[in-house]
Amino acid sequence: IPEMNVDAFEPLLLDKVSVSKGSGAITLTGGLFNLIVAGPSNSTPTYTEFDIANKKWNFGLDLPLLNIESQYNLKGKILVLPLVGHGACDLRLSEVQTKITTNISFPIIEGREVVKIDTMHVAFKVGGMKVKLHNLFNGNKILGQTVNQFINQNALEIVGELEDSIGESLAAIFTDIMNNVYTKMPTDLWLLSDEQYEQYQKELKSA
Ligand SMILES: *[C@@H]1O[C@H](CO)[C@@H](O)[C@H](O)[C@H]1NC(C)=O
Repeated sequence: IPEMNVDAFEPLLLDKVSVSKGSGAITLTGGLFNLIVAGPSNSTPTYTEFDIANKKWNFGLDLPLLNIESQYNLKGKILVLPLVGHGACDLRLSEVQTKITTNISFPIIEGREVVKIDTMHVAFKVGGMKVKLHNLFNGNKILGQTVNQFINQNALEIVGELEDSIGESLAAIFTDIMNNVYTKMPTDLWLLSDEQYEQYQKELKSA
């Protein structure tokens, strides 16, 4: 929506998705940079709960396929194997199911009420993951191949271990994206009052 300076979602360009996990079977710090994410426009909303009284907006989004090209810089340990490297990263996630919970407020901007997301939590499940980290261990082919293979064989377990850490980073990104849209769209343009909603239901029935 160029009139509102709202950026496109397809492909979705992200500066950075960080990981920071210091204990457990997987320890990993660093992240992905300059991400080009193809696939978000195929998302399907699965449910939405917009609770004005309690100032909560919770919803689910399913993303059938995300193809992500990025740079990475990671250091840590995946179960038994060390992982160190930086370079290009190809990542493919399938059947991503998200559940997003938020606390919202209704500030007035330029005289009109908008919705603003104050805090967000992102939970997600991934059906499949394929990843290729180029230039692991400064380009050591044998080690790099071993670690890539190992990650792909244990992909779902690894994603599960990193869910909280990645979720925090995604929550910050999604909050920015949503606030960029919704703080520019006054609620009087899209959010019906109870009276307006009743009227709308009546019109639906008589139509
Ligand atoms: C909403 O706010 C409450 C109270 O501050 C907090 O405990 C909760 O974690 C928040 N929920 C989300 C999804 O951020």
